[in-house]
Amino acid sequence: MAVKKRKMMMKWQDYFPSCFKPESPRPSPDQKKQSSSRRVSLSDLSSSSTLPEDLSVSLAGSNLHVLTLHELKVITQNFSSSNFLGEGGFGPVHKGFIDDRLRPGLKDQPVAVKLLDLDGKQGHREWLTEVIFLGQLRHPHLVKLIGYCCEEEHRLLVYEYMPRGSLENQLFRRFSVSLPWSTRIKIALGAAKGLAFLHEAEKPVIYRDFKASNILLDSDYTAKLSDFGLAKDGPEGDDTHISTRVMGTQGYAAPEYLMTGHLTAASDVYSFGVVLLELLTGRKSIDKSRPQREKNLVDWARPMLKNPRKLNRVMDPRLEGQYPEIGAQKAATLAYQCLSNRPKLRPKMSQVIKVLEPLKDLDDIQIGTYVFAISTDSDSQKEFSREAKRNKDTMNENSQHQHRQRIQESHRNKAKSSLVFIETTILR
Ligand SMILES: Nc1ncnc2c1ncn2[C@@H]1O[C@H](COP(=O)(O)OP(=O)(O)OP(=O)(O)O)[C@@H](O)[C@H]1O
Ligand SMILES: [Mg+2]
Repeated sequence: MAVKKRKMMMKWQDYFPSCFKPESPRPSPDQKKQSSSRRVSLSDLSSSSTLPEDLSVSLAGSNLHVLTLHELKVITQNFSSSNFLGEGGFGPVHKGFIDDRLRPGLKDQPVAVKLLDLDGKQGHREWLTEVIFLGQLRHPHLVKLIGYCCEEEHRLLVYEYMPRGSLENQLFRRFSVSLPWSTRIKIALGAAKGLAFLHEAEKPVIYRDFKASNILLDSDYTAKLSDFGLAKDGPEGDDTHISTRVMGTQGYAAPEYLMTGHLTAASDVYSFGVVLLELLTGRKSIDKSRPQREKNLVDWARPMLKNPRKLNRVMDPRLEGQYPEIGAQKAATLAYQCLSNRPKLRPKMSQVIKVLEPLKDLDDIQIGTYVFAISTDSDSQKEFSREAKRNKDTMNENSQHQHRQRIQESHRNKAKSSLVFIETTILR
């Protein structure tokens, strides 16, 4: 794919002179010290009467590489379709491979190169916000920004490559394998740690765009937050919130933020609750293909989250009952609290971590109410009923484990032609 030319040429050099001198950072020792002790924010740049001569100087110490468009064309094979990874509001994303030959000091690694669509809705501001936040924030649960390119009107971002793509793809892609319960908890926990890091930073950050497509997954399902184009510095001093233009994604944004534009860390906690609900239910926050009362996930699921007897109605059928009941109840209650309409009642992200941490050690096997996918074939149903009765009769403390294995085995055999869902309760 060739890089598109903008129809209406804007003079970026008036706004941002550094973009015309792609060079490796060469900060003076004083500048280096200053940038490592205090995070530079977007307002520091745009409020000053003279713009910084070189972004790489402002971000000295961040180890960001300034790459040329030519170099990025080489590593992505001219943005070839075979390297295409996906596309969002910013523009297309392509896989590439960098090594020491490209730039001395660069470690051999695959990367993802995001190219600003010059005809799209986002632009220089989102690009700059991303470079400024991700260039300075480093954490195991934030995607690593390796470098950027700013040449003429072109804006690109170079990230570490995340082999499993986005949570959205993993959870909702049509023919993807269902994520097991323990992986879902691992992802929720990782994303929660990323968000907690932002909220608890010396200079707090509100992420503002927490959603399944912005959670990227490493080969071992370590979750990392990406896309800081909408991020904001949190309120400082006595301020309780910052006022912003309402931006974000439908279905994820907190109700008070949508109504007032007042942004707090609690708005991110609400969005976290929505993603947690997506992980529990396997449903998208907004799904227009569903019946009217199920289109909005939060409206549909919230009333059932605190009721253990109704919980299995919201749990993802693709989990096939393979989750610990107590873990599911705790996660559902947590989602309920995060989704409170009153921001003050929502937990802090550090509290969210405390609740999720122990859940990752519970195994995937449910002890209690099972949801089975079985064949509609009447013989199979009778067989299943007989099996369930047998199991109920023989269930006792010592045979629980054996029993679970047998049920799962028989379930696996029957689920091959699953058409309906039925429930049965196994006595403890
Ligand atoms: N670092 C990365 N490693 C691997 N794949 C990536 C990486 N960054 C993005 N992608 C892929 O590119 C796709 C598009 O990402 P992008 O963040 O631009 O848009 P989005 O999150 O889908 O939409 P939105 O514009 O609403 O954020 C993602 O779904 C993901 O599959
Ligand atoms: Mg994104």
